[in-house]
Amino acid sequence: MSLYLQITRKNNLAIYRQVAEQIRAQINTGRLPSGTRLPTVRSLSAELGVTPLTVHNAYNELQADGLIESVVGRGTYVSDEAQRDAMPVDTDQPFHPDNILGDILHIMRARHVRSMAVAIPDPDLAPIDEIWGRVNQLRSEWINLSGYGEIEGDGKLRAALTLWLEDRGVKAAPSRVLVTNGAMQALNIVTRALTKPGDSVLTEEPTFLGYRHLLKTQRIRPLTVPVLPDGPDITRLEQILKSEKPRFYYTIPAFQNPTGVCFSAEKRQAILDLCRKYGTQIVEDDVYSDLYYDQPPPAAIAALPHSQHVIYLGGFSKTIMSGLRLGFIHASPPLMRKFVALRRVSDLSGAPMVQRLLAEFLNDGGFKRHMRRVRPIYQQRRNGMHDGLNRFMPSFVNWSRPTGGFCYWLDMPRIFAPGALYQLALENGIGIAAGEAFFTHDTQREHFRLSFGNLTTEAQQAGIEQLGRMIREQASKRPGADGQLKEIALTDR
Ligand SMILES: Cc1ncc(COP(=O)(O)O)c(C=O)c1O
Repeated sequence: MSLYLQITRKNNLAIYRQVAEQIRAQINTGRLPSGTRLPTVRSLSAELGVTPLTVHNAYNELQADGLIESVVGRGTYVSDEAQRDAMPVDTDQPFHPDNILGDILHIMRARHVRSMAVAIPDPDLAPIDEIWGRVNQLRSEWINLSGYGEIEGDGKLRAALTLWLEDRGVKAAPSRVLVTNGAMQALNIVTRALTKPGDSVLTEEPTFLGYRHLLKTQRIRPLTVPVLPDGPDITRLEQILKSEKPRFYYTIPAFQNPTGVCFSAEKRQAILDLCRKYGTQIVEDDVYSDLYYDQPPPAAIAALPHSQHVIYLGGFSKTIMSGLRLGFIHASPPLMRKFVALRRVSDLSGAPMVQRLLAEFLNDGGFKRHMRRVRPIYQQRRNGMHDGLNRFMPSFVNWSRPTGGFCYWLDMPRIFAPGALYQLALENGIGIAAGEAFFTHDTQREHFRLSFGNLTTEAQQAGIEQLGRMIREQASKRPGADGQLKEIALTDR
């Protein structure tokens, strides 16, 4: 077995970081399994022509991350822990955009991947005690909460969600609320209720990859309208509504996933007016609207006059924690009956205890307190990512600063084969979401999404620095710059 290292002095990255990152990548991909003995500091520094301090610093960094361990008198080894967390995704498999949703959920759990792939909040900021700490207070209701729950969802939660909706100007009623296992189940139910295979649904392009996937598995034809900096292209929207008659328009007006665009008040009104004109149902997915960092987004489409037929979807995966698996649908009574019937055959009921915990959290102001606490932190991370991109990305890469949500959407000329940047980044311990997963057709330019919710600014910047380097190297086609690839033979434990 060998260790491959290539050091270049023309690179902006400090030499000890080059050594550390390359060893990290080889551990992550499983090329250096647990128990592999690394060269001594002295021998590696001689081999590479660098100072012992450089190698020492590289080893220190890897040790701090739990990837390697030193055993006094015996040497330095790849740790057992590293094996447990080794690359969750087989980067040797041919790239396919449909696999990305599964991949990025794995990546999220791999401790040694800096994941900017998934749009989730930071688990360290989750209000764990404020939510789970209430379990004991619910003892007296244990009997009610320990069986199957009401199919529509816990009554107290539906009442709390009604207030939550009214706070946003949506005229709501508990009888019009169906609690779901996340917004994803809500999307599933709504799509099944309103379409049959072969129908078409209008979405934005690009759009939430989970929904693109759902349409594909349900054999629904996606029609698409491009997203401009203030919302969808309205001329194109009207053409499609008029000529194609989609079953509904699935829209994400607040901090759209993946572009981060917040639709203007004018565009929201235009969407409602056009959909009313052509008799097209609107499904408004509003899971990011509480994550604003400059000013709150304009009123939801479901809060505008004459919007009573809009189907509104919300959820708490982005604001509280995705593990709660709580979302909801608000819709008119006839639709609600269809949705409830589909929910019943899907999983009988949600988890009553979890739903009640969320109800209590919403009712006593916990949710609002939590948002006041985390918004400035995410705002800082949003700013930090912007600074990192400015510092480390080549000038031909474009992005715009989102005013909310968790996503930066980047675009550049196509310099990698489809999926190649995504796979190269993964091999180097960085998770990004490949742009191909968000489009229904091939694009001439290359896109990728970076999420900033779950990484500190420092961790993001280290990842962006490496990504910037990979992109530059590919663009300049400088094979390895001045560095020579060294093969260093390793001995077993
Ligand atoms: C726009 C959008 N809708 C729905 C979902 C799914 O949310 P949940 O975790 O509540 O199922 C996501 C998750 O990324 C999303 O970005």
